[in-house]
Amino acid sequence: MATHSVVDADELAPGDHLVVELEGKEIGVYNIDGDYYAYTNWCAHQSGPVCEGPTSGFLEAEFDRDQMETTTEYVREGEIVACPWHGWEFDLVTGECHSKPGVQLISHDVDVEDGEIHVTV
Ligand code: FES
Repeated sequence: MATHSVVDADELAPGDHLVVELEGKEIGVYNIDGDYYAYTNWCAHQSGPVCEGPTSGFLEAEFDRDQMETTTEYVREGEIVACPWHGWEFDLVTGECHSKPGVQLISHDVDVEDGEIHVTV
């Protein structure tokens, strides 16, 4: 494993991401509310370029049995990525797949040193 400087931290604003090539692998680097995450640009379904997919949030629903009402709230904007090939969705904070429980993105350690984002691959 080796650690690589990929970009100045102030060039990757909250909500942004980029895909870089490190040691022959494409790596998606995300800034989610000031925390950084890095994943191999590879989907466990059929090897699609997951980090090139759109990000979004999701709806949380709560059902009140007594009132027979469902309330929904859109939460976690920008924290979910959908693979552009068949739409499997992954949590960018945990790497967990929401479409297929037990499946994970391949994650990499990310640090910020001297204003630069470093990823270990
Ligand atoms: S390759 Fe990603 S959803 Fe199919």
